[in-house]
Amino acid sequence: MEQKRYGHFDDQHREYVITDPQTPWPWINYLGNEDFFSLISNTAGGYSFYKDAKFRRITRYRYNNVPMDNGGRYFYIKDGDTVWNPGWKPCKTPLDFYECRHGMSYTRITGCKNGVEASVLFFVPLKKWCEVQKLTLRNTTKESKQLKLFSFEEWCLWNAATDMENFQRNFSTGEVEIEGSTIYHKTEYRERRNHYAFYHVNTEIQGFDTDRETFVGLYNEFADPQAVMEGKPRNSHAHGWSPIASHYIEVTLQPGEAKDFVFLLGYIENEQDKKFAAPQVINKEKAHALIAQLDTTEKVDKAFAELCEYWDALLNIYKVKTGNDKLDRMVNIWNQYQCMVTFNFSRSASFFESGVGRGMGFRDSNQDLVGFVHQIPPRARQRIIDIASTQFPDGGCHHQYQPLTKRGNNDIGGGFNDDPCWLIFGTVAYIKETGDFSILDEMVPFDNQPGSEVTLFEHLKISMDHVINNLGPHMLPLIGRADWNDCLNLNCFSWDPNESFQTTENVSEGTKAESLMIAGLFVVTGKDYVALCRKIGKDAEADCMQQAVDAMVEAVKKHGWDGEWYLRAYDFYGRKIGSNECDEAKIFIESQGWCTMAEIGAEEGLVAKSLDSCKKYLECEHGMVLNNPAFSKYIYEYGEISSYPEGYKENAGIFCHNNPWVIIGECLAGRGNDAWSHYAKILPSYVEEKYQTLHKVEPYVNCQMVAGKDAFKPGEGKNSWLTGTAAWMWYTVSEFILGIKPDYDGIRIDPCLPETATDYVVSRKFREAEYEITIHPNGQQKGVKQIVLDGQKVDGTVIPYAPGKHTVEVTM
Ligand code: BGC
Repeated sequence: MEQKRYGHFDDQHREYVITDPQTPWPWINYLGNEDFFSLISNTAGGYSFYKDAKFRRITRYRYNNVPMDNGGRYFYIKDGDTVWNPGWKPCKTPLDFYECRHGMSYTRITGCKNGVEASVLFFVPLKKWCEVQKLTLRNTTKESKQLKLFSFEEWCLWNAATDMENFQRNFSTGEVEIEGSTIYHKTEYRERRNHYAFYHVNTEIQGFDTDRETFVGLYNEFADPQAVMEGKPRNSHAHGWSPIASHYIEVTLQPGEAKDFVFLLGYIENEQDKKFAAPQVINKEKAHALIAQLDTTEKVDKAFAELCEYWDALLNIYKVKTGNDKLDRMVNIWNQYQCMVTFNFSRSASFFESGVGRGMGFRDSNQDLVGFVHQIPPRARQRIIDIASTQFPDGGCHHQYQPLTKRGNNDIGGGFNDDPCWLIFGTVAYIKETGDFSILDEMVPFDNQPGSEVTLFEHLKISMDHVINNLGPHMLPLIGRADWNDCLNLNCFSWDPNESFQTTENVSEGTKAESLMIAGLFVVTGKDYVALCRKIGKDAEADCMQQAVDAMVEAVKKHGWDGEWYLRAYDFYGRKIGSNECDEAKIFIESQGWCTMAEIGAEEGLVAKSLDSCKKYLECEHGMVLNNPAFSKYIYEYGEISSYPEGYKENAGIFCHNNPWVIIGECLAGRGNDAWSHYAKILPSYVEEKYQTLHKVEPYVNCQMVAGKDAFKPGEGKNSWLTGTAAWMWYTVSEFILGIKPDYDGIRIDPCLPETATDYVVSRKFREAEYEITIHPNGQQKGVKQIVLDGQKVDGTVIPYAPGKHTVEVTM
């Protein structure tokens, strides 16, 4: 397959520059950092929402549409008979120039046609509930230009799920108000809603439309809306059907002249007793105030500069200079950026997640936090409390919760037996980063029930206990509905396609099937828990948990080793899964990752053998597959995993999320060459160079899955952006490869590098300190020989924390 290039990195501006609008799939970016969010593709497709992509969807989007990625914020420019858009779509009029620059929480799309340049900067200002669209029109010809400009947004009737289905109601409820250059969307405001949205432009308009059918025409499309084609707005008022917002502006541009237009898509909430200014008329005070803050180019430029400074500060916390551009740009820019996005959205809203299906995952959010905690620790702290509040008194937890209500999602419920352990993983990372042990004393409810509060430490304790209280016949953890692998459903025997694999437990209520993945996870988090208990003087609890950890290690060695690798699980009948005895799926990655991270049986050589087996059986050109060989048929005792065709998703896809587990295993074992080669295979900047067409999805972020070696098209990526891969890649490279690891009392330095690594420098802000750490690998893969802190030799590998600026020299 010919590998065409569609763009390139611009490291200096921290941007990915797309130079061809016809990317192999929409390549998107995220706007907004808290509360107000937007998704935007390289042709300006996408949508906006407030906090929750399901319950507060502001603009409408149709997923999986024909053509793909239809609907967004569109500017139509009518120049004589030519109608075009700066982002090429939806008119698809060939452009003389096109460029889309995706940056840190902003996107700039520029198009040129017949001597007119249109450049739109899209961003969500910090702490504001709106999306700014600053459009600059420039006449580069020697003649004056008369242009007709139409804006376009389509409102969603708030609940993105019912918006797509309940037309018998929806077609009668839509309501708008128009005031000057602002179009207000107020559907359902008359009843229980206390919020509305608006679309404003900072100039006088010569017309507008708010009814979709009138603007587009029933048999026309976004590509040729009637009003635009005829150059004539209809000044329509929407009543029911589908409300939209379109401004019409007549623009004259002298030769060389440029004009800015600031469009604002805003969201407002009013108190119950202040909802109306007059009967049926919404109270617009807050909208006016918001508009007044952003109604000139200067104000917008200032807000944009603030956003850029915000990102400067965030990306200044951990910076590396290795001289390898591909590594540096991922560590310094894109990996950290993706971590922020996954922290904000969990698995809810992307071009693969519709925003209506899933809220915030319990395990997902704990993992995402590890990629984010160094950036804004107070938000990570709040997240831990929110997550823990959805736990049940027995230590189990809601598998997901809704970001708007922060309540557990009853449609899914609990029963995923790995979930509790992740709370320890997240909390320990937070305390190590911040030194803030007070979080352990926070009072946190169960299932959000007032009156049920216990300390966060109690939540951690019952999380560990939940594993111990749910052991199976081999003294290994019961899997429940599933462990990390949502699709390994060992207690759901289903021949009914209308049943959910994950919420149907139709055999034994899960008292038999056991997971080696949870066993490894328990040992890793158990060791962390023991260390934490010792740190806070809970020695008896530490001793007790140490015994449980030791017992788990023994159980794995006795019942979890297959000769060349760790088993994956025992099924409902007590049969081995992921064993040489099996016909297919003889080896799985998850248990190799977790049991090697737990270093179970390292002295006996089990770790090294397991890592070698990963190389031998799982590795391929594009990364390590999840299992091998792939399942070729559906096995009803295994559930969803075997429902996927070979090489996709959890059936032998390269599920990038779990590759870093093995890489960390390699790092702990000191095998730097192997760690690096696994890492580079799934590092976007390496893939970008070779496989833009094949990879298909955005080349600047990791995707959840790359088709594996058994797939029809190995190397093709899917499910970009929202994946635990982001946090795990970050954790792996920052702490285990580059070796800068926050610890309770300071920073532990313990890199694991390929032999070819040369000297590098990490600048790390840590609490009130700033460290400039130079590492001299001297051809070593592992092992720190000497650390010199501010001219003084340090014993061991931890540089003790002290506020202020420090220089550190590390010799390996
Ligand atoms: C889910 C994770 C899960 C993984 C593997 C992802 O889609 O968000 O929670 O661990 O799939 O099944």
